[in-house]
Amino acid sequence: MPYSGVINKYLEYLPFKEDVQPVTLLEGNTPLLEADNLRKELDAPCKIFLKFEGANPTGSFKDRGMTVAITEAVRKKAEAVICASTGNTSASAAAYAAKAGLQAFVILPKGKIAIGKLAQALIYGAKVIEIDGNFDDALRIVREIGDKTNVEIVNSINPFRIEGQKTASFEIIETLGTSPTHHSLPVGNAGNITAYWKGYKEWASRKHTPLPKMLGFQAEGSAPIVHGKIVEHPETVATAIRIGNPASWKQAVQALDESKGQISIATDSEILEAQRLIARTEGIFCEPASASSVAGLIKLIREGYFTVKDVVVCTLTGNGLKDPDTASRGIAAPLSAPASLLEVLNLMNIK
Ligand code: F0G
Repeated sequence: MPYSGVINKYLEYLPFKEDVQPVTLLEGNTPLLEADNLRKELDAPCKIFLKFEGANPTGSFKDRGMTVAITEAVRKKAEAVICASTGNTSASAAAYAAKAGLQAFVILPKGKIAIGKLAQALIYGAKVIEIDGNFDDALRIVREIGDKTNVEIVNSINPFRIEGQKTASFEIIETLGTSPTHHSLPVGNAGNITAYWKGYKEWASRKHTPLPKMLGFQAEGSAPIVHGKIVEHPETVATAIRIGNPASWKQAVQALDESKGQISIATDSEILEAQRLIARTEGIFCEPASASSVAGLIKLIREGYFTVKDVVVCTLTGNGLKDPDTASRGIAAPLSAPASLLEVLNLMNIK
């Protein structure tokens, strides 16, 4: 049977009946790549796999949750959908709403959204409202609108989003034949780490697979869970995880405790270095927030945390093409030459 999206693939694990009519862009089924070059470069004892969620239709993992949340919004006959976002949720909500013929509203922190993500929300036809505030302010406003109107919230506080996102764990277990020993993720609003853990636990209870340890990473200037304290003015180059008061804080702590995992920080420069390393060694261009999963992994490798028995999956949550500005700032500019064969050969330094 041709692949038909995460709802059809994992229907028995989702809160829908057989007659569900999925709103899908054929999300999911993303590559799980063994990162042998990266392993050698880092001299890592463990195996490393990268789950490249940037290969989803709108370029991030949000599509797995959005197909489920928008399908439910249509079933409930919601008037429209709304989300607060650091960019990817809004791109995904706008795309799935377009496919469903629903109006999407998105509330964004002004000036803090990567250019590609903003372009996506606009071209998919969402009504975009930028506020003078951060993501946490935007989510507060969205919650109030959800309470007062028939507009459906499609942030990850909507449980249908978590249901969809947990399917990434299923794919990983199916590809590896078992669970990894560790799973590393960037943490922003903390919905995704909550969803992965739910997925691993549900699969384990049905198929007796082992449970991995969950490893979460927050950016240094936006690390409320690490410090156990709301960050009033979160800052990081990884704008996707620029969040000071995560909605799924409690659930994330539960996932970390239950799995005997841990959460720690990655600095902006470690994040950007990891982003370039992943691109140069493995041929994958992910966005800065995504690279924090590998930046964190690198630290743990250096601390001697892993053994040869370990198999680590890092989720690369979003596509680097969404934020070309940040990526190009840290790399060498192109060489330039007159339109002459000799000059070009000279620059190539090849005889
Ligand atoms: N990576 C990327 C690329 C993201 O866009 C996000 C969250 C995360 C990681 C963190 O996931 O919030 O579930 O802990 N982006 C949200 C958004 C907040 O609005 O697009 P999380």
